[in-house]
Amino acid sequence: VTVVVLTIGGLFTWLWTGADVSTAGRVDFDEKLAIPPLAKSSVDKDGTRVFDLRMRAGTTEFKDGVKTPTWGFNGSYLGPTLRAARDERVRVRIRNDLAEASTVHWHGMHLPARMDGGPHQMIAPGAAWSPHWTVDQPAATLWYHPHPHGSTARHVARGLAGLFLVDDKESGRLPLPKRYGVDDLPLVVQDVRFDGAKLDTGRGFLQNVGFLGDRTMVNGTLNPYQEVHDTHIRLRLLNASTARTYAFGFPDGRAFSLIATDGGLLERPTSMERVRLSPGERAEIVVRMRAGERVTLRSFPPDDYGDAWQRRFSGGDDTFDVLELRAADRLRPSPRLPAVLGRLEIPDGEEGAVRGRHFDLKRSGINGREMAMGRVDETVTRGTTEVWTVRNGNGMPHNFHVHDVQFRVLEVDGEKPPPALRGPKDTVFLPDGTTMRLALRFDGPADPETPYMYHCHLLYHEDEGMMGQFVVVEKGQRARIPAPHPTHA
Ligand code: C2O
Ligand code: CU
Repeated sequence: VTVVVLTIGGLFTWLWTGADVSTAGRVDFDEKLAIPPLAKSSVDKDGTRVFDLRMRAGTTEFKDGVKTPTWGFNGSYLGPTLRAARDERVRVRIRNDLAEASTVHWHGMHLPARMDGGPHQMIAPGAAWSPHWTVDQPAATLWYHPHPHGSTARHVARGLAGLFLVDDKESGRLPLPKRYGVDDLPLVVQDVRFDGAKLDTGRGFLQNVGFLGDRTMVNGTLNPYQEVHDTHIRLRLLNASTARTYAFGFPDGRAFSLIATDGGLLERPTSMERVRLSPGERAEIVVRMRAGERVTLRSFPPDDYGDAWQRRFSGGDDTFDVLELRAADRLRPSPRLPAVLGRLEIPDGEEGAVRGRHFDLKRSGINGREMAMGRVDETVTRGTTEVWTVRNGNGMPHNFHVHDVQFRVLEVDGEKPPPALRGPKDTVFLPDGTTMRLALRFDGPADPETPYMYHCHLLYHEDEGMMGQFVVVEKGQRARIPAPHPTHA
């Protein structure tokens, strides 16, 4: 352990970090990857698909027969994968069996503000909450996690996170790998630290950034390998870490096809060698396998994209060996990837945009304000498209997530966005010095009393107040300051 003293803005900050957190070539890959179970559901009389989630405390054995207290949905760590189709009505009956209040937010989902599970929809210990909505968006890899104001990082790091997959008819007809857990693998990636065999969420906390681990875990499995039997393997990558940004690729430099971003499929598969994901972002990639080979999914230091910050604090090298794919000696040939995947449902451009807004990202708050539950920061008219300009000039990395919508990235520093930012997005990474212009369309129901959030998804920043609230109203309607919400019973 080294002690590094740094001067940041005239302040001395003490940082305790592992000298070199690279795990490249050092992971045994001797544990079979856990695949989160698909959540059971039932369909009630009016055709609603009903899921049950229980937030609970438990213990998890990550290694060597030692148990760590953790939290999970239905189990002791992470949660099952919820899955529903477009146009389906869903209801999730949630029970909070934790000893403290929390929420469940549907990250990336287009739904009424009262069902969003943000900090205004707290569920008291022992209480229940049953949000319901009609799935009204294209096929995508979404996720769910708590969002209690000030405690989100802690609740997520203890294990409260899961996937929500949306299906639709168009994507169902495409020849893409789609056998869950076979050639379509959900990968919930987190960075963690251990104290012996115990998960340690205390150390590794870095001033101004938040918690950074010194190794990675996938779906709660520490040294994961997965046997595969097909020539095309689809990986649904979720960065469920609280602070760390990854740049996923393969040590042999092989290219893969990016097929989807946060909110669903791209127009066409795009070949690339690295995909960068900051906290909260998702990507779906298709990897081509050869019979009998072993291929490591690696995260490279993301600083070739301009983020030297995290690497500096990792003491040099933050390369992580994340997962080993073991190809069987005989592989089933997968169909060729389609040339065209679908039509994007995000705004075309800025044509028709009714107004612009600016968001200046600072660790101390957005646009100079710290998050306040009782203040509405932005009021948006239902049915309109807007252009939001987001700037990070704060000397450290931030990202920007907007609830309820999937947006289009129009420009990054005045240029056309790179291929990985051309699909539907709900979260974008902004290294220091970046400006992005986003086109967002707000077409959900108006609710002048219930805000949605926008925030930095580096959860420590969010908890410290890098968050703001917007409401969607009918034309001419005014937002009302949200009253503190009663506990859902
Ligand atoms: Cu993933 Cu406001 O959250
Ligand atoms: Cu931030």
